[in-house]
Amino acid sequence: MAEPMKVTTQRYRLGYHLMTPGGWMNDPNGFSFFKGWYHIFYQFYPYKAEWGPMHWGHARSRDLIHWETLGVALAPDAEENGCFSGSAVVYDDKLWLVYTGHHTPNARDPEDFYQDQRVAWSEDGIHFTKYGANPVLTKPEDNTKHFRDPKVWQDGKDFYMVLGSQGLDHLGRALVYRSENLLSWQLATELSKAKSKETEGYMWECPDFFHLDGQDVLLMSPQGLDPDGDRFHNMNQTGYLMGHVNPETKHLERGEFVEIDHGHDFYATQTMMAPDGRRIMIAWMNAWDSPMYEVEDGWAGALTLPRELHVKNGRIYQQPIAEVCQLRENELLHGPLEAENEYALGRKAELQLTFERPAAGRLLLLTDGEKHLQLSLEPDTHRFVIDRNTEDGERAAKLLDSDELKLRIFLDKSSAEIFVNDGELTFTERIYWQGVVSVRVLTSAKNQAQAWNLEDEANTY
Ligand code: FRU
Repeated sequence: MAEPMKVTTQRYRLGYHLMTPGGWMNDPNGFSFFKGWYHIFYQFYPYKAEWGPMHWGHARSRDLIHWETLGVALAPDAEENGCFSGSAVVYDDKLWLVYTGHHTPNARDPEDFYQDQRVAWSEDGIHFTKYGANPVLTKPEDNTKHFRDPKVWQDGKDFYMVLGSQGLDHLGRALVYRSENLLSWQLATELSKAKSKETEGYMWECPDFFHLDGQDVLLMSPQGLDPDGDRFHNMNQTGYLMGHVNPETKHLERGEFVEIDHGHDFYATQTMMAPDGRRIMIAWMNAWDSPMYEVEDGWAGALTLPRELHVKNGRIYQQPIAEVCQLRENELLHGPLEAENEYALGRKAELQLTFERPAAGRLLLLTDGEKHLQLSLEPDTHRFVIDRNTEDGERAAKLLDSDELKLRIFLDKSSAEIFVNDGELTFTERIYWQGVVSVRVLTSAKNQAQAWNLEDEANTY
């Protein structure tokens, strides 16, 4: 038996973001609420800090903030070479996992694969049994081998599943299936399809579909987009199509694809509806093409803070869920910050900084003397720019005009999550701080700041 990978040093281990106990993590899976616990699962390879035959790692929480790592929920069996991404739904007093079986019958060629959809269930939310007659769904005739990442929800008596898929025309699309019992599925509609590979991608990974503030939203992670101005600079992106499903055609009539986060390290979102009706999103705080320096320490990957979604000004806004305030320990700053002075924040902190407009140009620098993250706002174009001072270190997006410029920044030992103007724009970054991080304001625009030290070891592994 292979031994699970062990973490060798704590230097980049995050204080309050969820990671693996050791080994590799990618997409969040099965985000759900069952018998008083929030559950999150994730794509997991326990034996090395690199992608391998996918398992489902598992953690649960009472408050979405303090997570308790549990044992592996799903491991590939003789019929599967990997348990790929999927979701969870409560039915018949059980927690059901709906996942993709990934199969590579030709060991010498990993690209020679097929994918099908499978289920497993649990009565205690900890131990899972795979259905004996899996798979419950195989790909349709008019599809290539890309057919994965089921997201299931209940509507009335019926269950629906949206799947990432690729038509024979090699364009990404989202298929929706319907079921009464999670075991037998019928195609309901091709909800939406890419207009072209360059603008919307050849494959849509990790789709998710929900109603939000009167809109129908298809959130997904397309592959293959061409960079366009400030947009689409990561290898793959995550974003949404927003509009309304036409009741006759069952197609989503929608606007253009909009990136949901503009940082380097954000991919493969999943949302859940909390018992109080909030739509909460979580994502992998990495990207397939971004460096992960923790690999040499025996682990790789993390999840973002959970974020509450709303529609405002025709866009999706993201705010960290209210519960994050529980992470605050002592207050570090309160009041205006003097330009060019350095204020120490440590390595796990929340900083709220509001500038009076017109604040423009270089706004602030987060620095530990070695690593830097600079934030600026271009005065005429309203282009908000972050620069992490590495190769391809810049990311930017346009901000709407506003009377104030509000920044809310969550620093952790190897990350920064930046929320601009109440979540109109977000930038998610892995940044491997080497020492105590300080903030330096670079503009003379009037400001008000508040900062707190945040909890370390918020999660158990
Ligand atoms: C997205 C993804 C999914 C797949 C999983 C495999 O990051 O490629 O499409 O199910 O990762 O680990």
